[in-house]
Amino acid sequence: MKKILVTGAGGYIGSVLVPKLLQSKYEVIAIDRFFFGMKKLPENNSLHIIRDDSRKLQKEIFQDVYGVIDLVAISNDPSAELFKQPTIEINAESRIHTATLAKSCGVKRYILPSSASIYGYHDELLDETCPTNPLTVYAKANEQAEQGVLPLADENYTVTVLRQATVYGLSPRMRFDLAVNGMTYGCYKNRKLPLMRDGSQYRPMLHVQDTTDLFCQLLETDSSLINKEIFNVGSEKHNFQIKNLAEEIVSIVSEFLQENIEIEWYGDPDKRSYRLNFDKIETRLGWKAKRNLKDSVLEILQALQDGTIKKDDSTITLEWYKQLVEWHKRIKEVEKYGGILDIE
Ligand SMILES: NC(=O)c1ccc[n+]([C@@H]2O[C@H](COP(=O)([O-])OP(=O)(O)OC[C@H]3O[C@@H](n4cnc5c(N)ncnc54)[C@H](O)[C@@H]3O)[C@@H](O)[C@H]2O)c1
Repeated sequence: MKKILVTGAGGYIGSVLVPKLLQSKYEVIAIDRFFFGMKKLPENNSLHIIRDDSRKLQKEIFQDVYGVIDLVAISNDPSAELFKQPTIEINAESRIHTATLAKSCGVKRYILPSSASIYGYHDELLDETCPTNPLTVYAKANEQAEQGVLPLADENYTVTVLRQATVYGLSPRMRFDLAVNGMTYGCYKNRKLPLMRDGSQYRPMLHVQDTTDLFCQLLETDSSLINKEIFNVGSEKHNFQIKNLAEEIVSIVSEFLQENIEIEWYGDPDKRSYRLNFDKIETRLGWKAKRNLKDSVLEILQALQDGTIKKDDSTITLEWYKQLVEWHKRIKEVEKYGGILDIE
């Protein structure tokens, strides 16, 4: 049984990926600080859950590991702006450290889940050879990570970078701060679709089941096809202009609820806009995104209606991290005076 180490395993993508790896008969080491709770992962004899900081990983953890999928991150722009230094440490430095340590321990494969936001603003259709233009701390950290891990590739160590589009769909660690999920929730709950100005920006979308299928596929793909390679991950039909995406979601939810939905604009005009070319991943790997927007939006609506998912504070990453910081401060304050927080 091959052993796969996944960092950020308790996150939005990780909590979909880990069960899939287990089903595919891998043994999994799941590393996370579990900021979003430990109950997002299944109980399974082949799953080893380790609460640890990715910045502190030691050699021993990589013993007999075949592949690493390094999902760990402060995972969006606003959180990264608020926590600049930790973002560089976690999203860039810790991932380079992990990739380096893994190589020195004989791990065979390393996958870096980077982001399409690294392209920043571009008018033309972008393939992997186009210059990057990272506009935010989050995107810059991803670029630094890519530049740090790719040179480690050699004939015994397969390193692959995935520039994922913005992900959507249901996950045990649900995120309503992602475009499709957030728009769907707004329509459902408030009969209003929150839309970032001015709507003309392009943003590619990718279903969480599609990207996690790809991670599994890459663990078994011939190294010569993927070693030291960067792939855009998404699909041409999901290269959405944001206002068109909003209109599609409004139409799906209106039909579902049999009610009118209004668009509610927010924010300053988004400076990020990029449309990606996905020829490389489709022709070289034969991988294609399979899921479609309508089914996924309906799935989220159904889950909201059934109560199997709900929007709580932890589903908005920035708000949750702010709360964790506040609680941490309060605990420290109480401890300073020799108190404890347990009032029972
Ligand atoms: N979700 C998307 O739309 C998207 C798009 C492109 C790229 N990505 C990338 O995919 C990866 C996963 O994203 P996600 O949406 O699952 O994010 P997420 O925030 O849900 O998951 C990140 C996980 O990392 C953990 N974590 C944070 N700091 C840690 C540390 N120092 N040590 C150990 N664990 C720590 C958190 O507890 C969390 O469970 C990230 O690298 C993200 O940048 C995501």
